[in-house]
Amino acid sequence: MTTQTQADPEIRKGLAGVVVDTTAISKVNPETNSLLYRGYPVQELAARCSFEEVAHLLWHGELPTAAELADLERAERAQRALAPNVRAVVDALPTTAHPMDVVRTAVSVIGADDPTTADASRAANLAKAVRLFAQLPAVVAYDQRRRHGQELVAPRDDLDYAANFLWMTFGEVPDAVVVDAFRVSLILYAEHSFNASTFTARVITSTLSDLYSAVVGAIGALKGPLHGGANEAVMHVFDEIGSADEAEAWLERALAEKRKIMGFGHRVYKNGDSRVPTMKAALDKLVAHYDRPDLAALYDALERAMVARKNIQPNLDYPSGPAYHLMGFDTATFTPLFVASRVTGWTAHVMEQLEANALIRPLSAYVGPAERHMEEPATA
Ligand code: ACO
Repeated sequence: MTTQTQADPEIRKGLAGVVVDTTAISKVNPETNSLLYRGYPVQELAARCSFEEVAHLLWHGELPTAAELADLERAERAQRALAPNVRAVVDALPTTAHPMDVVRTAVSVIGADDPTTADASRAANLAKAVRLFAQLPAVVAYDQRRRHGQELVAPRDDLDYAANFLWMTFGEVPDAVVVDAFRVSLILYAEHSFNASTFTARVITSTLSDLYSAVVGAIGALKGPLHGGANEAVMHVFDEIGSADEAEAWLERALAEKRKIMGFGHRVYKNGDSRVPTMKAALDKLVAHYDRPDLAALYDALERAMVARKNIQPNLDYPSGPAYHLMGFDTATFTPLFVASRVTGWTAHVMEQLEANALIRPLSAYVGPAERHMEEPATA
């Protein structure tokens, strides 16, 4: 939206359409409905890569050689166990706390514990990125378990990132179709140019603050339902609707109440989110695996109704919410799963911002009272 005031000829609310910097990390192209990570279509990466390979690609610009992948896997597996200080702080938080608040607090603790936090060299920041990459699954998995009165599950270093994450959460490794759907979701969530949370991380980095602070701020931005919080909100919508035959009437009521329908619409994509078909295919496999045609019918009914009524397409959160539900994650854990994935993109952006930093400090148009003065105090 563009508005005009006397003080400034053009204001772009929400920075809509404003290009603020260059990036070599990903390209979102709404015209061709495509998303590239370092030049590779995300669909190809989702079909052929492990999440570890995609993390390396985002950080380094190239897919890893066998030796580079082995190095990353070794470093990640060595740091998977929940650090004692992090566990102590998580245990001190109430189980009524939102899991996003827990994960945000955990990243603060990891940063406060790290003697290299202030070291802004690329090598140090890369090591911090790998540390967060390795630690976040332990935090998210343990937080879900403690809410159910379950013990911590120690990591297994014979499993890859996605399988180990599920192992630490559920105490078992699910069937390959489930691990694969989870891997695909992690790859699709990893990076999306200057979205709100990534931009937050870049703003914080531009002040020469540290990488952990940037990630803490990004988590705060991701929590909101207009951004990452939507995957959780989609499941609440499904619970509220109940079944496919209620979808149309529910939508009419919700739109009449001027509600935003979670999991639909996007600031950049106006004809459909490039990531949805890949995640929907993974969701279809989960629906067949868990024999939940009712969930698929509800999904299709709401999408059909929304497209017919508003011509607004689903975004990635629409298929990933029910996919995470079928995998067994608590609804409140969905957005922390997004954090565990997006931390790869955020940290790549932190390092890119530092390569050619300029303090991010926009202007505003003042619309408050004109200059005025306090009355002189009465003299006695
Ligand atoms: N439900 C109902 N109406 C919608 C929706 C929606 N989900 N999305 C857009 N619209 C309508 C708006 O009301 C507006 O209508 P109007 O012109 O009559 O006022 C029009 O479409 C344009 O929408 P804007 O809000 O201006 O679009 P914007 O680019 O600012 O918003 C956003 C994008 C925030 C994602 C919006 O579509 C939304 O709120 N969606 C629901 C939340 C959501 O799913 N977020 C996830 C984003 S993707 C991700 O994080 C992976």
